[in-house]
Amino acid sequence: MTKTLSKRFDKETVKNGLHATRIDISGKNRVQLIALLNESLADTFDLFSQVKQAHWNVKGHQFYQLHLLFDQIAGELLEYGDELAERITALGGTALGTVRMAAGTSTLPEYPTDILDGMDHIEALADRFAPYCQTIRDNIDKATDYGDADTADLFTEISRNSDKRLWFLEAHLQAEDER
Ligand SMILES: [Fe+2]
Repeated sequence: MTKTLSKRFDKETVKNGLHATRIDISGKNRVQLIALLNESLADTFDLFSQVKQAHWNVKGHQFYQLHLLFDQIAGELLEYGDELAERITALGGTALGTVRMAAGTSTLPEYPTDILDGMDHIEALADRFAPYCQTIRDNIDKATDYGDADTADLFTEISRNSDKRLWFLEAHLQAEDER
């Protein structure tokens, strides 16, 4: 083990099960960052599976455009999950990314099984995207406080795109809501 490596592989790091790494972020901060990233990984995979649920089960006269839109959104969430998991491992952590791990940690409510119509699916997804966007936005500042501009940048990218997706969903509802 090199001197640089042993410096970062401190007791705090070992105690919390982190891998040895030469990255120049303290073990103490990496523990916090990894926990933050794993929470968002769980929310992201949960939301991915919920958007797929909508993609498969949506009915109504807007079926085909919503079926396609939901699949596009699900694909983006899958990419975010991959980026979050790889940032966790870059920081010396273990990504907790199975369906069961995500289900145990996700902060989002479960998706309803008793809805069919496109607008009901849009509303259910908007109700889940809103808290997802809020948590991701909060994590930008938290990652900055832990001295990791790169993780903050990843959260910023996800935040910007997720806000856009919330807009795409809500654009279907605003004409009715504001009439
Ligand atoms: Fe499909």
